[in-house]
Amino acid sequence: MTDMKYNVLLLGSGGREHALAWKIAQSPMLGEFYALPGNPGINSLAKGIEGKVSDFELIRRTVVEKNIDMVICGPEDPLVGGLRDFLESCPDVREGLLFVGPGKDGARLEGSKDFAKEFMSRHGIPTAAYRTFTAGQKDEALDFLHSLRPPYVVKADGLAAGKGVIISESLDEAKESLEHIFGGQFGSAGSKVVIEEYLDGVEVSFFVLTDGHEYLLLPEAKDYKRIWDGDKGLNTGGMGSVSPVPFCDGEFVEKVRGRIIEPTVKGLEMEGMDYRGFIFFGLMNCGGDPYVIEYNVRMGDPETESVMLRIDSDLLAHMAAAARGNLSAEAIKVSGRAAVTAIIVSGGYPEKYAKGYPVSGLEALTDITVFHAGTAMKDGRLVTSGGRVLALSATGETLPDARDRVYSRVDTVSFEGAFHRSDIALDMINWPAGKR
Ligand code: AMP
Ligand code: GLY
Repeated sequence: MTDMKYNVLLLGSGGREHALAWKIAQSPMLGEFYALPGNPGINSLAKGIEGKVSDFELIRRTVVEKNIDMVICGPEDPLVGGLRDFLESCPDVREGLLFVGPGKDGARLEGSKDFAKEFMSRHGIPTAAYRTFTAGQKDEALDFLHSLRPPYVVKADGLAAGKGVIISESLDEAKESLEHIFGGQFGSAGSKVVIEEYLDGVEVSFFVLTDGHEYLLLPEAKDYKRIWDGDKGLNTGGMGSVSPVPFCDGEFVEKVRGRIIEPTVKGLEMEGMDYRGFIFFGLMNCGGDPYVIEYNVRMGDPETESVMLRIDSDLLAHMAAAARGNLSAEAIKVSGRAAVTAIIVSGGYPEKYAKGYPVSGLEALTDITVFHAGTAMKDGRLVTSGGRVLALSATGETLPDARDRVYSRVDTVSFEGAFHRSDIALDMINWPAGKR
């Protein structure tokens, strides 16, 4: 087994996928490495294949032609769209292809908020109280909103590119969001609406890799979603991350395992879902008790950029075992070091921003880890091609050390309009609030 090599196809093109690629590339078990489509950072480690992750036919052809042993799916859309089921149904894709990510059934944990909430209530998993309404039940939905207290949480049921959750302080605003969702703002993702109780607490992201029976617990992390320091301004795809999270001590982690992770993995198994891949638990710590805000069926971005830096064992070996349904012999080794990631974004993001600005200074960044999120090559030069452009990640003995290492280098990279938050990890360094 030890000289087994895997030809790997990694799907995706963001900072999360570059961090996964960085970790995978360190494995002695890696054979040929392909990324579809990848990005300039990923493609320095893997051979890039042009195309879209939504092009299942292209993925099938690549798997067959490149003799792929393992497909690792970074983003959720192909999973929710049934990529694993599709590949399993193709006669020319060999049996035994390893696939990291759930089938269409398990992917409903992320693809439908109503499904996720019902799953949690079937299995007694703590989450906010809720009700689901279809467009025909608008009056009932309004009545339910009236019965709640602010803030109001209104969610489109399906995938809405991270924009389907609207939290409002006033009842009028909440009613308006309801009208917008039913009015088609998120297309078919809004054919059902989940209205739920507001959870007051601190968010944290937990990750497991499961084979459908057993699981490995990855390092937890916290992300920073708002554009400005102090968690102000618009929501983004994520402006930074930190791991570990100080309040996740032994007692809290045991609660998360016993109340949330184990009932989830068992629930999936009991319901016959044969879930093999990552589960991301978006949790709220409410006074020391964890509640599930959401499930994702993939790793988080930009949490992965910090999390990968803290895994000392061979993640490729763990993923192969999970995809085989044979995780029991695997043990994950987590580093005691701390990791911090700051994202450098394009000026104007998350609203309108320009692309195509040359990026300079990367060659000098040899003492920290740089993951590409939104870059492209144009006429032989590295240019910006997205809102989130680069992730700067570093580890240190302690959170302040890791943070200092990242922030000592943020001004080394430059491109026109580059912007970053300057307070990533500070709240966790000062936890509990006001300690320092
Ligand atoms: P989601 O798309 O489900 O991740 O929700 C986006 C964000 O909305 C979450 O990361 C939370 O910050 C917030 N959120 C969602 N549901 C709730 C809730 N019930 N109570 C408080 N905040 C929430
Ligand atoms: N960082 C949150 C997410 O990946 O959904």
